[in-house]
Amino acid sequence: MLSLSSLSALCALAVAVLAVDPAPPTLTYLFSVNLTFAEPISIGSVPYGTRDLLTISGGNAVGPKISGTVGKGLDWGLTSRQGVFSPDALYSLHTDDNATILIFEKGHAPHVHILFETASPKYEWLNSAVAYATGGPNEVGVGLDVWQ
Ligand SMILES: *[C@@H]1O[C@H](CO)[C@@H](O)[C@H](O)[C@H]1NC(C)=O
Ligand SMILES: *[C@@H]1O[C@H](CO)[C@@H](O)[C@H](O)[C@H]1NC(C)=O
Repeated sequence: MLSLSSLSALCALAVAVLAVDPAPPTLTYLFSVNLTFAEPISIGSVPYGTRDLLTISGGNAVGPKISGTVGKGLDWGLTSRQGVFSPDALYSLHTDDNATILIFEKGHAPHVHILFETASPKYEWLNSAVAYATGGPNEVGVGLDVWQ
């Protein structure tokens, strides 16, 4: 049985451990992507803000882990009453080495998280990856830098 003094020593240790900031996770740069858009369709004012259907018409990705061209996609983002845009996008990416990757992107601008889905053995690792991306509007549409 634990004595009262060893128990309080353990509690002190736990407090000391909790007081230390955890090390931030390290990020690996994957790629940067530019998305181009077709004419948006405005759904208008809905219960949680303003909804738009943004058709992703193309684009391209360049980076150390993935390079390719963006196929088609859709972003049905919501702009809150406070003016925060929350993208909710799905689009395909065809890599330069002939793999097709589905990209799921969600977040609050300018920060999003990305999940991937692919049948390609080479990019199998993407199926369990979680990526963080940040970016915003640029001359061509929207640009994002993506890290795992
Ligand atoms: C995206 O477009 C910007 C502005 O034209 C350009 O500077 C950048 O290199 C492009 N990035 C990619 C991944 O093509
Ligand atoms: C590209 O991938 C598709 C689908 O897996 C396949 O049918 C096609 O033969 C591939 N093309 C090349 C050039 O490897």
